Formats: sequence, structure tokens, C-alpha cells
Amino acid sequence: MMTNDYQTFDKTNVFNTYARYPITLVKGEGAYVWDIHGKKYLDFLSGISCTSLGHCHPTITAAIIKQAQTLLHTSNLYYSPPSIELAKFLIEHGGLDKIFFCNSGAEANEAAIKLARKYHWRKGAKNKNVILSVDHSFHGRTFAALTATAKPAIQEGFAPLPLGFKYEDWDDIHKFCQAIDENVAAVIIEPIQGEGGIHVAPPGLLEAVRTACDKTGALLIFDEVQCGLGRTGELFAYQYFKVKPDIITLAKGIANGLPLGAMCATEQAATGFALGDHGTTFGANPVSCSAAFANLTTLIDDHYLAKIKQLSAYLLASLQNLQKKYPQAIKEIRGVGLMIGVELSVDAKKVLQHCQESGLLANVTADNVLRLLPPYVIEKSDIDFAVDVIAKTL
Ligand SMILES: Cc1ncc(COP(=O)(O)O)c(C=O)c1O
Repeated sequence: MMTNDYQTFDKTNVFNTYARYPITLVKGEGAYVWDIHGKKYLDFLSGISCTSLGHCHPTITAAIIKQAQTLLHTSNLYYSPPSIELAKFLIEHGGLDKIFFCNSGAEANEAAIKLARKYHWRKGAKNKNVILSVDHSFHGRTFAALTATAKPAIQEGFAPLPLGFKYEDWDDIHKFCQAIDENVAAVIIEPIQGEGGIHVAPPGLLEAVRTACDKTGALLIFDEVQCGLGRTGELFAYQYFKVKPDIITLAKGIANGLPLGAMCATEQAATGFALGDHGTTFGANPVSCSAAFANLTTLIDDHYLAKIKQLSAYLLASLQNLQKKYPQAIKEIRGVGLMIGVELSVDAKKVLQHCQESGLLANVTADNVLRLLPPYVIEKSDIDFAVDVIAKTL
């Protein structure tokens, strides 16, 4: 196929469910990617928080090759060392007790919602089945996940949706906690909302929700699909916020770009699932799990968490300087670690287009928020380049 034909064929023959940018990527190395014409870009989005240790990290690539040459798939009918090593790592570093592996963030949330309901059902609380989520949240596109996603546009046209979901604004902490009544099976929260425009949970909210859940016995689920695994400068986002949930869902950055999801649960919450209660064919794939183990051990052993905090301080300071220069264009800068949103008062899509033309990849979420999720392998010089491109664009 000729180079320009790719985009034409994709537009005509592949479902148009994504608003793709007119860029065809063919190669990546570290924080950089190249398009089909050889143009180089600094990737400040990491495939939406996936390639956190950069493209084709040599240690992870080696682990993938080794596993691919050894055993590609086993099914979940047998024991498989890569998934067991990974589960051990997640338990040792995450402080929860049991892991379920799946393939994506939506699937991890689906598992969490099912686990919460079955947990109460097993205890005889058959009406304790309501899932409470936060306005403007995003939890994925499968039915339970999109019903928990409190965004009409995501749900439109898919009725009838599963029953037993309700939503609250998290700015009014008291009202939010009051909604955690006896019928609530679980509260699902992104500690930092990603798709919603990089909003950090209001101070005190997570602590108050934890207390309210403890009072009624509702389970607390943290959706760390986007904000987990290093983004905050801690391995798990809950460790940054210092509020421990009963269930954590992970995906995106777990295997540095290979598809994998995970649900971590406390011993107590995990009692919800018994033999045959849940499953997925490709969950715990040995290649994805080997990649994830190499990814997460490198993240810890090469001291990336400390580096993320330093880079974050530098990036935030640089963006704040930019805001001082362009107060009319930059409304607010939000975020933690390397998960930053720049809310613009000018047309964010135009700004992004200009950034792309100048060799910087990011994206726009919640209409006018420039979302920056750079890989942890960037250097200060990359931040200088990115901020300079945004400055010139503004
Ligand atoms: C917080 C959060 N949860 C869940 C999902 C869904 O993940 P996936 O696209 O892997 O199903 C996303 C994806 O953007 C997300 O940001």
C-alpha cells in the first residue's frame, strides 16, 4: 500500500469511532516517535498514559522477545510463571492481596463492579448493589463501565443500560458522602480524573469517602487506569493520596503499551469471587505479563519515581511561567506528577494542531484542556522543547 493510502483506507474501511489526527506513526524510541514521512515528534502523551517508560525500552523489548520465543499463550487452565511473578510484584508494592488479570481498563472496572456486587450478594445483602460514581468520570466503554461513566455523550443511544448506578458531584463532599447509603455496594473514583480534564480529587474527599464506606460496608474502588503506576510519582495513586481503597483497577501503563489490565483487591473484598465467577481468555497473557514485570521492576529499580517528582516540579514551574506570560490564553494548570492538564481559554484544538506541526504530540480532552502525559524517560531539555512549542503556539 502507498503511504498516503493508509489514511484513506482506514477512513473508508475501519470504523470511524476515533477522531484520528492526520499522522501515521511507524517507529518509536524513548520519548520520540516518527511518522511515515520520517518526521520526528516528541511524544508528550505516551499513547494516552501507556508507554510510560518510552517506546521500545530495551529491557522491556528483551523480555517480550524472550517470552514470545518461549511460550505465547497458555489459556487460564494452567499455571503460568509470568503472571504469578507479576501478581507477586503488585501485591508486594501495592499492599492489596489478590490480583485478577484481564486485557484493558474497561475490563478491569467491569471485574471490580462485578466483584463488589457479588461480595455483598454472598453476604446475603441482595439489595446492596448500587454503584456510585463521580460526575465527569470515565471508566471505559463496556456496558457496566460506560454506565459508571457519568457522561451523557458516552451513554447516548445505548439504552437500556444496566440498573443500579448513580452519580454525584465530588465538589460537595458532604453531599457525596450522604449518597453512600445502605444500598451502595461500591464507590468508584478516579483519584485524578483523566478524560474529564485532569481534575484532582478535592482535598479531603477521598478520606471522607473512605470513612463513609467503612460506616456502611460499601467497597471503595480506585480506578487508577490512567493515574496509576508512577504517574503521580508514587507507584499507586492511592499511595500519593494516602487513602487505601478495597479495590484498585489498572491497565494502560502496566505493560508499557502491550494490552493488559488488572484488578487488585483486599483479601476481604476478594471473597466476592468464587470458582467460575469471572474469566477472560486472554487475561494474564504471558507476553503481556513479562512486559509488565520488566516495565514495573525497571520503574522501581532505576528510581523513576524520584525522577518523576523532579520532572513534575520542573514541568509545572515552566508551565506556570508560561501562564504568567499568557494569562489570557492559559486559564488553569492542574495535575500531579506527570499527569498535567493545561486548561486554555483559546481554541485548544488549534493549539494542538500547531504543536503537532512543530513536532510535539499531546491531546485535548474535556473540550479545552491540553493533556500532557509525557513518558518518564524525558529529560529537562524535552520539557524545555515542549514548553517552547506551546509558548510559540500561544
Ligand atoms: C480512568 C480510566 N478508566 C478506564 C479507562 C478505560 O480503559 P480501556 O480503554 O483500556 O478500556 C480509561 C481509558 O481512558 C481511563 O482513563
